[in-house]
Amino acid sequence: MTTAETATATTAGTTEPTWNRTRLEKFERFDREGWAARSATYDSGFARLTAGVHPVLLDRAGVVAGTRTLEVGCGSGRLSAAALARGAEVVATDAVPGMVEVAVNALPHAEVRLAALPDLPFVDGEFDAVVGAFVINHVPEPPAAVAELVRVTRPGGRVVLSCWDSAELNRAQSVFFDAAAEAGAATPVELPAGSPFQAHAGAEGFARLLRDAGLEDVAVEPVSWTHRVAPDQWWHDILAGTVLTSALVRGQDPATVRRIRAAYDRLVAQYAVSDDGVSEYAVGDNGVGDMGVGDNGVGDNGVGDDRDGATVELPVAALVATGVRPDAVAAADTTASR
Ligand SMILES: C[S@@+](CC[C@H](N)C(=O)[O-])C[C@H]1O[C@@H](n2cnc3c(N)ncnc32)[C@H](O)[C@@H]1O
Repeated sequence: MTTAETATATTAGTTEPTWNRTRLEKFERFDREGWAARSATYDSGFARLTAGVHPVLLDRAGVVAGTRTLEVGCGSGRLSAAALARGAEVVATDAVPGMVEVAVNALPHAEVRLAALPDLPFVDGEFDAVVGAFVINHVPEPPAAVAELVRVTRPGGRVVLSCWDSAELNRAQSVFFDAAAEAGAATPVELPAGSPFQAHAGAEGFARLLRDAGLEDVAVEPVSWTHRVAPDQWWHDILAGTVLTSALVRGQDPATVRRIRAAYDRLVAQYAVSDDGVSEYAVGDNGVGDMGVGDNGVGDNGVGDDRDGATVELPVAALVATGVRPDAVAAADTTASR
């Protein structure tokens, strides 16, 4: 039985639904459609936050001038742009055509290709370094995906991935979950129940995922930073630049959205910073009309409007996992899950 097919026992002693083919396909479809809808708006908002971990990924992967570097799940291409700035030779891939289009425009000096993990169109050992920021938590079959990353890495080369740390630490996103809970929001039916990566979450699980794929000298480290933004802008950025969190809010009726927004305003207020009151982000039209959110009030700034210049510094926390490809890699048993 593969990881994907194994039902996961929860700490409460109950059993999560099995990751059978139907459930995996629903997860994948929902995720891909979500990123396709966010492709045009991802870079100007949420990508500013994810960029906080990019230098660590490149350092751990040993990316310097001339390093043959593959980025998977490149989104709008900021990590690859940072690798290019170091003088690396870069190939960037993403599963979503809209993201690839954005990345092609952002990365004139890289090769950008459409490729969905766990399959990559590259020969064995083609890269010195393979990096992926916040993509492993979106792939349907993490063990098969990491095995594929190992395959395209040369012996002695590095694979470096990041995922989100716990909700307690990663407040920039979890304020939305807390606000939804406070507002009594029900989980919209279209949301997939959980993610296949949950079985590999936490430092130990993440390290095991890399080790089981044959990597050596595996290390997982916590990386934290703060995201400085105006609360109103961040509400907009999350709705325009995430899949799951955005769907949780968008899937509510107008009254519930207003309650979520009110709770959100209260929760983020504790991260307010006193400065000259000038946000580094321009908060003008919040683009709600462009996002096609209908009229459920998702983009309505009427609640707790903070466009007078308030700024918050939201805690962000990730785990970065690094592994080295040995000379010979035992074939990982991922076939049955594919
Ligand atoms: C949270 S975004 C991260 C983007 C970028 N790495 C960053 O740091 O901002 C996740 C990205 O992974 C891509 N993605 C999702 N599933 C994928 C898969 N199976 N293979 C490759 N990319 C995938 C999405 O299209 C999206 O661009």
